[in-house]
Amino acid sequence: MSIAKKEYKRVTTKSLVDMKSNGEKISMLTAYDYTMAKIVDSSGIDVILVGDSASNVMAGHETTLPITLDQMIYHASSVIRAVDRALVVVDLPFGTYQSDPKEALRSAIRIMKESGGHAVKVEGGKEIKDSIKRILNAGIPVMGHLGLTPQSIYKFGTYTVRAKEDKEASQLIEDAKMLEKIGCFAIVLEKIPAALAQRVAQSVNIPIIGIGAGNGVDGQVLVLHDMIGMTHEFNPRFLRRYMNLYEDMSKAISQYVTDVKKMDFPSDSEQY
Ligand code: KIV
Repeated sequence: MSIAKKEYKRVTTKSLVDMKSNGEKISMLTAYDYTMAKIVDSSGIDVILVGDSASNVMAGHETTLPITLDQMIYHASSVIRAVDRALVVVDLPFGTYQSDPKEALRSAIRIMKESGGHAVKVEGGKEIKDSIKRILNAGIPVMGHLGLTPQSIYKFGTYTVRAKEDKEASQLIEDAKMLEKIGCFAIVLEKIPAALAQRVAQSVNIPIIGIGAGNGVDGQVLVLHDMIGMTHEFNPRFLRRYMNLYEDMSKAISQYVTDVKKMDFPSDSEQY
């Protein structure tokens, strides 16, 4: 299949909307540090998400809830220093935007000022509408996130597919339309039926980026450490692993340990 691809020197929120209109799919991956972000950006990714999945991937927490605003700013500023082309979107962590719109705006301003990120992402629909409007009114671009929203995991109780029932599916469509209407530039849809995700993508003009939401949407996002196989215990159906870095790194590190023990490393040519 031929791929429609216009060259974007720098990806902006407007470029993403253009990509949707031109039928070009949007590629998005997470990154949380300088070195990884440098590789991801120079490989041509459109959007880098400094996701609150850093809470799991970088800090080893069971959920995304514990990560703090200061920690997100640290990760985001490391990523920003590496990036020349991609749009960098930063998750507002749990507890920094749900209680009241003023606090939401203060949190978003801290992300933008202290990390240099280009946009923020928030999880939820009508229940956080006022907070999103307040952030947007300050000129900060907002990406929505509907479907499985991991910050609400204790409400859902499980990480299974969301919006299988009509009532939840209708609410999700309504929320997506509302997010577009108030000015969000894109929406992530996580772990919902592919047919519903396609319906949402066709109902709005802003890009819909899916994770476990099928192929009928405007772009795809994965957690970097999952797609390069650095993690190996998490195996949802939607995940395609492009490498098995866990195995490759384990082999390399075991070899290093052996070489050090045997005094094979460093060799004559590896010393001064
Ligand atoms: O935090 C994250 O990595 C995310 C993606 C799963 C979309 O929100």
